[in-house]
Amino acid sequence: MPIIKALMIQLLSCLCIIPLVVLFPSQTIPAWILLQAILAAVISHYTKMAYWWIPMQLMFLPAIAVALTLKISPMWFGVCFFLLFLVYGKTFKTQVPLYLSSSEVTKALASLLPRKKNFTFIDLGCGCGGLLSTLHALRGNGNFYGIEAAPIPFLIGKARTLFNKANCNIQWGDLWKQDLAHYDVVYAYLSPVPMPTLWEKVCQEMQPGSLFISNTFAVPGIAPEKIIRLNDFSGSALYIWRI
Ligand SMILES: C[S@@+](CC[C@H](N)C(=O)[O-])C[C@H]1O[C@@H](n2cnc3c(N)ncnc32)[C@H](O)[C@@H]1O
Repeated sequence: MPIIKALMIQLLSCLCIIPLVVLFPSQTIPAWILLQAILAAVISHYTKMAYWWIPMQLMFLPAIAVALTLKISPMWFGVCFFLLFLVYGKTFKTQVPLYLSSSEVTKALASLLPRKKNFTFIDLGCGCGGLLSTLHALRGNGNFYGIEAAPIPFLIGKARTLFNKANCNIQWGDLWKQDLAHYDVVYAYLSPVPMPTLWEKVCQEMQPGSLFISNTFAVPGIAPEKIIRLNDFSGSALYIWRI
């Protein structure tokens, strides 16, 4: 798991610095912190950690040092940690953090859904349910489902869709336990990590003629039937496969 590797690199960098601190006691603490941060970033680079880990590794010890100088009550760190855990706690395992589809994505998705015919749609990892509740408002002929593993986004989504239970329903759970055979359209906005396994699940379970749509993350080696590129803040692209 990258998070364990990142922690090991932080500890290793600290261990490398300790003999230098003993040998050169006149150096200041900020200088040692800076050296440890650079060392952690360099080791992360050479041990082939994903590029987004490099700035995080660089910032780790300096951020702790700065936070300590602010003399904030430890209780606030506990509260923030708990809240973040309820949003991102499973990310270390799923490798899929929370970030939300843009309104351009929602509009493009709505244009792909039937206008009159009934259909079923699921958002795998539906976050706070924003995409589902907007699509539900735009396409009343659809039955919308969402599955979300993180407790706080799930509760927000549940509250949002409380009064539309009949055709917009969000569950707390694991997307890997959903049977995709029940849905005409399956939408996923996850990360590069689960895409190969998700594609296997899609091929095993989805019905012929149904649609699988992935926002931003393609399935390696599998050409989509269509790609819709959007001009939103993250340059999203919708990859569409008809099963
Ligand atoms: C990038 S967000 C997308 C949110 C929403 N679908 C949207 O488009 O705005 C991905 C979400 O998937 C959830 N997730 C990741 N792995 C999951 C799993 N195995 N089961 C259920 N939800 C999962 C994460 O908690 C996160 O909220």
